[in-house]
Amino acid sequence: MAQQVRGVIAPGRGEPVRIETITVPDPGPGEAVVQIQACGVCHTDLHYREGGINDDFPFLLGHEAAGVVESVGAGVTEVEPGDFVVLNWRAVCGQCRACRRGRPWYCFDTHNASQKMTLADGTELSPALGIGAFADKTLVAAGQCTKVDAAARPEVAGLLGCGVMAGLGAAINTGGVGRGDSVAVIGCGGVGAAAVLGARLAGAAKIIAIDLDERKLATATGLGATHTVHAKDADVVAAVQELTGGFGADVVIDAVGRPETYKQAFYARDLAGTVVLVGVPTPEMTLELPLLDVFGRGGSLKSSWYGDCLPSRDFPMLIDLHLQGRLDLDAFVSETIALDGVEAAFEKMHHGDVLRSVVVF
Ligand SMILES: NC(=O)c1ccc[n+]([C@@H]2O[C@H](COP(=O)([O-])OP(=O)(O)OC[C@H]3O[C@@H](n4cnc5c(N)ncnc54)[C@H](O)[C@@H]3O)[C@@H](O)[C@H]2O)c1
Ligand SMILES: [Zn+2]
Ligand SMILES: [Zn+2]
Repeated sequence: MAQQVRGVIAPGRGEPVRIETITVPDPGPGEAVVQIQACGVCHTDLHYREGGINDDFPFLLGHEAAGVVESVGAGVTEVEPGDFVVLNWRAVCGQCRACRRGRPWYCFDTHNASQKMTLADGTELSPALGIGAFADKTLVAAGQCTKVDAAARPEVAGLLGCGVMAGLGAAINTGGVGRGDSVAVIGCGGVGAAAVLGARLAGAAKIIAIDLDERKLATATGLGATHTVHAKDADVVAAVQELTGGFGADVVIDAVGRPETYKQAFYARDLAGTVVLVGVPTPEMTLELPLLDVFGRGGSLKSSWYGDCLPSRDFPMLIDLHLQGRLDLDAFVSETIALDGVEAAFEKMHHGDVLRSVVVF
């Protein structure tokens, strides 16, 4: 029997979100219905609402979520009803050219549910990132459910499903930060702050946090930044060089994603260093760099999609580290709100007041 539950809908470009009754079908083959316990508010949800991702309105928003599997469809073996899971947007296919080469964290053909959730009048919904978890229940592909230790608080665990994983992974997986490295992180919102935490976990000796907002620098310091640079009144490249013996950092992570921050990242790294772009640019942005500098400075210029994570490998491990007190994920939950607080949370995010507002059910 399909079920009727509440869900937060973005009805049209730029229109405020609202709660509607949605219909969640029973899980078909390879699918699962998950009862949502917590879901963070991410910048990407706002991008969907503004029509910045695509025009497939109405969207069912929410994608940084944890909950309990309620039911599974035929052939599902990876999870069963009652499992505590974090939802992911990388359910690897196992068949595409990336998966077959043993690089499933790049999977080019990730799975989502094949059935559609709908409004009461039958209008099909587009779930954000194939998840749609600002809802009492959601329908996903079973591979989008990653079982983790149920001792973790849902509002913390769910954040691994997107921004926090992207930041941690930008440092640990994409940047390959190692013991003793110097790391600079430009932009310390939810993603950049997680990159700071990831750099510390990986053993970086020097972690330089850079932001325009004093509050974000304070949070980054709490998470392990050893130095801060206020980007408004400093020459960021010169400041990073000065803090690294005049050379630049081994790894610079751009968690803003603008041409000017990317250029800072490019020049603030040491020779043969690594730049990681994890902030997402918009279509009109372009970059101009002297090609000789690209050659002469060597090293590698990388992008980090979802922190190059493999949910089945990374989520349970990171939750275990968190439960052991070795990974402070609690710091990312700025506030918990109810389902009707999403629109107000967008406003707070816009003003930089929060790392994450998290809807709890
Ligand atoms: N690659 C991925 O898979 C992935 C996943 C999730 C989010 N993202 C992207 O990561 C980016 C950051 O997301 P977030 O949730 O942390 O956003 P956020 O708005 O919380 O944080 C952005 C931070 O950058 C700072 N900032 C802005 N301009 C700056 C500048 N010129 N110099 C220094 N600091 C500056 C802001 O003060 C803010 O603290 C976004 O572009 C988001 O879309 C990427
Ligand atoms: Zn694949
Ligand atoms: Zn997100």
